[in-house]
Amino acid sequence: MAKGRKNGLYAGISDELSALMRTGWADTERTDLEPAEQAPHAARRRAALSARFPGERLVIPSGNLKIRSNDDPYPFRPYSGYVHLTGDQARDGALVLEPRPGGGHDAHCYQLPRDSRDTDEFWTGYTAELWMGRRPTLAEAETLLGLPCRDVRTITADLAGSSGTPTRIVRGVDAALQAALDTDEDRDAELEAALSDLRLVKDAWEIGEMRRAVDSTVRGFTDVVRELSTAVATSERWLEGTFFRRARLEGNDVGYGSICAAGEHATIMHWTRNDGPVRPGELLLLDAGVETGTLYTADVTRTLPISGTFSPVQREVYDAVYAAQEAGMAAVRPGAPYRDFHEAAQRSMAEQLVKWGFIEGPADRAYELGLQRRFTMAGTGHMLGLDVHDCARARTEDYVNGVLEPGMVLTVEPGLYFQPDDLTVPAEFRGIGVRIEDDLLVTEEGHENLSAGLPRSADEVEAWMREFAG
Ligand code: GLY
Ligand code: MN
Ligand code: MN
Repeated sequence: MAKGRKNGLYAGISDELSALMRTGWADTERTDLEPAEQAPHAARRRAALSARFPGERLVIPSGNLKIRSNDDPYPFRPYSGYVHLTGDQARDGALVLEPRPGGGHDAHCYQLPRDSRDTDEFWTGYTAELWMGRRPTLAEAETLLGLPCRDVRTITADLAGSSGTPTRIVRGVDAALQAALDTDEDRDAELEAALSDLRLVKDAWEIGEMRRAVDSTVRGFTDVVRELSTAVATSERWLEGTFFRRARLEGNDVGYGSICAAGEHATIMHWTRNDGPVRPGELLLLDAGVETGTLYTADVTRTLPISGTFSPVQREVYDAVYAAQEAGMAAVRPGAPYRDFHEAAQRSMAEQLVKWGFIEGPADRAYELGLQRRFTMAGTGHMLGLDVHDCARARTEDYVNGVLEPGMVLTVEPGLYFQPDDLTVPAEFRGIGVRIEDDLLVTEEGHENLSAGLPRSADEVEAWMREFAG
């Protein structure tokens, strides 16, 4: 009798049960599969990466399950660089680009195959298929991904077999695989930067996914506004759950922890505790994004008067942020330095803060010294895609010191945050936080606001809320 697990209710497995479990299973191999829609796009991305690293082996792991406690794992989310190059979402996998003697690379996707039914592992291991769901066979994965697949359990031996090949791996994704390869940290960082660079410009398929993410997010925001008109919307948690339902129904998940910040919580940039009340007369800052089933996320913020109408001071702040966003969005066009939208929005808010007398002018001086940052706190936006702060490891010269190109998707999200204990502003401003965040696609002509389906100006927001008022 094999031993059972600690504190499990079964003491062990009898030989008879073990034998019973191993037999009587149908062959479920699927032969009707088609390549995933993303497969040819992923192949083009791999070719672009291959051209940047001639003669070198590149290893891009997907990542492993992370255990929360005992036998309870966190939901698995693969490394975005792996998803981008394969279209795959499997855990414990890795893409390997093996240099060909004549130039170019051969790509192999290492995968965890289906569990063997010849041992007890397939029904006793808590991460086994019988507990967590069926995986594709290697043959099925080859069809779906359009690239040769191998058993990941042989990867270390396979790579050791040609250990003279210069190798890079993306670090911090798969500790065991990383430890098995003797690679150089700086050269590995260059690979990670290249993967980020590669995602700066989205291809046509990705832009379609970004549209789907934003469209679902617009529906999620509408769900929340509908709830605001009901008596049940008395807590931030309820609104968080309302958005989450849409994200799970139409996508994979939320792309980041939703910020449902009512009242003075709106002045806290990363308020994800969401455990406060929702009171009439206050503002609700909702920053949330649906992540599609293919793992592309939106990132949208609206700041809404909970009772449906802005107070005069709320509107004054809102209009200042709106003007800054208009100035920022006007700077989003191909060929423009990336920083332009940020600088235009921050300059606009610096001017308003000087007018209010909250920082010392003249506005140019205040802006040069960055004085507005006491109230604007963050940068005005970031690239968006598979990660909410996408391409974060890209080379500085290609990202923040780079130039906008058609196909880039970025957020423009100015905000003003007056802390409840800030004695430098009049009492009626304290505890007000406003952010407006939209997702912009850079086009040949200028830009397209992908999140234009949501109202933005104060008047539009109020009219939208009246539509749903109970
Ligand atoms: N929701 C995170 C951000 O806006 O950057
Ligand atoms: Mn953002
Ligand atoms: Mn956001």
